[in-house]
Amino acid sequence: MKQWIDKLRQERTLTPEEFRQLLTGCDAEILRYINKQAQEVALLHFGNKIYIRGLIEISNCCRNNCYYCGIRKGNPNIERYRLSRESILNCCKQGYELGFRTFVLQGGEDPALTNDQIEMTVARIRQEYPDCAITLSLGEKSREAYERFFRAGANRYLLRHETYNELHYRQLHPAEMSGKRRLQCLADLKEIGYQTGTGIMVGSPGQTVEHIIEDILFIEKLRPEMIGIGPFLPHHDTPFAGHPNGTVEQTILLLSIFRLMHPAALIPATTALGTADPKGREKGLLAGANVVMPNLSPVKDRKKYELYDNKICTGDEAAECRVCLKNRVKSVGFELVEDRGDVAL
Ligand code: 5AD
Ligand code: FES
Repeated sequence: MKQWIDKLRQERTLTPEEFRQLLTGCDAEILRYINKQAQEVALLHFGNKIYIRGLIEISNCCRNNCYYCGIRKGNPNIERYRLSRESILNCCKQGYELGFRTFVLQGGEDPALTNDQIEMTVARIRQEYPDCAITLSLGEKSREAYERFFRAGANRYLLRHETYNELHYRQLHPAEMSGKRRLQCLADLKEIGYQTGTGIMVGSPGQTVEHIIEDILFIEKLRPEMIGIGPFLPHHDTPFAGHPNGTVEQTILLLSIFRLMHPAALIPATTALGTADPKGREKGLLAGANVVMPNLSPVKDRKKYELYDNKICTGDEAAECRVCLKNRVKSVGFELVEDRGDVAL
């Protein structure tokens, strides 16, 4: 098994069969080995720096009904909210004072948030914070909308493809959603010039090793600047309520595989990983992740953005999350840095 890991580090890829062996035959010792290799590669590329991004959850209203997601349209049991432009700008102001130089505006596909409004919000942030990176994570939009946001000053876009396999995509999403359309969005984003992020949930219902291999090969071809990988965690008000969660081990194995394949990519230790295990984010950093994303959303709305059960950080002020993460990052030997951390592949 170690020979595949050494080969992966050297050649940055494996054959599907070798990936299959690695994904199915990875015991505790092999996992330690690949985590260490991945950490070394991250260290060579970034030193011991970990980048920090301020996450602002701007709306939990969504027109989609993804079976895994707690803010799906079909969940009548959550209180819906949408931040005003002033509130978003206020989160940015707080974040800027705390040292954040990247703001991530994330939200559901909220029909009431028009492209005009999003464009205007981006333009205002761009105007007030010319030195900051603006990342959007607002789902599938038309190419024209993506172009407008880009011209208004957005630099990056996060859109996980969730799964490359069409049949698996069908198992995770209702018929009106299309995996093809999502991949087209990613192609558009790249072409427009966004630093683009994609990724998957690990252990989502119906996911097989073969699916994961397809995802690995898709991401290899797309060459995204950011790769978001977190465990699937069930939400009690979704059709997947009873499903088991994705494991920390499988998640950090994949983090390491992606780090070895994409040495320069920005790979977060996700909130979902920190929810699955109290030391999950630290384990992610030790497996090659190099980004953390503390929450800058207003505390009164945090609890309402619950994509999965028991999400951490829902009661903590931005400043508390910032300090908490700083200490966590330090505890495993890394240093939090405040620069934008742009990546050019
Ligand atoms: N568990 C883990 N991750 C989830 N996401 C959505 N719902 C869940 C869940 N139940 C992830 C999706 C989405 C990102 C914003 O959050 O991958 O792209
Ligand atoms: Fe939010 Fe620890 S990162 S409280």
